[in-house]
Amino acid sequence: MPGLFLSLEGIDGSGKSTQARRLADRLRTQGHPVTLTREPGGSPGAEEIRRLVLEGDPDRWSAETEILLFTAARRDHLEKTIRPALARGEIVITDRFADSTRIFQGITRGDLSAAVDRLHDLMIGVEPDLTLLFDLDPAKGLARATARAGAEMRFEDMGLAFQTAARAGFLALAARHVRFRVIDADAEEDVVAARVWEKVTAHLA
Ligand code: TMP
Repeated sequence: MPGLFLSLEGIDGSGKSTQARRLADRLRTQGHPVTLTREPGGSPGAEEIRRLVLEGDPDRWSAETEILLFTAARRDHLEKTIRPALARGEIVITDRFADSTRIFQGITRGDLSAAVDRLHDLMIGVEPDLTLLFDLDPAKGLARATARAGAEMRFEDMGLAFQTAARAGFLALAARHVRFRVIDADAEEDVVAARVWEKVTAHLA
């Protein structure tokens, strides 16, 4: 694929969605074609699945069922949005990708890592070129995420212990793969944006 595939990951309330928008704007200003997208979602079919997984009671779906739903959404996103954009030579910035399933479904509610990995190999099979992990104290993240409370609160409602396990999981994953850059997200928006820009331009260079 001629394009560049970039993912942003982190616990809820880590500020990555704001930073994804800022990064896309700055890259476009410099003349790069950018597709900014998100998971779950990023294609019409996957956006429909998004409602199923993000709204309602925390115990609406088991972790196993969620693995299937998130992977189905990702497959559609990959077919309809990501692959075509990469084939056009664009920079694809996705707000979450497969690492979110590895963490939120794979480890925070028992060890389902093997199932997540097998399904990923079978149905997805690609990794981002670069992954920015937004790292933040889970209590601060949860406070931010709860402050903007809307309908999509299923994962926030799983509580602080869940987000704490997710943070540890993300950091451990980042330590195992060279495509990760950890960004300290506990700072002003402009400061975090500068940290993001430094990592991305270093990679582009
Ligand atoms: P967002 O708040 O970044 O839009 O993410 C939506 C929620 O979905 C977030 O709480 C994490 C969760 N999620 C998973 O549990 N597994 C996944 O594979 C993805 C993409 C998101």
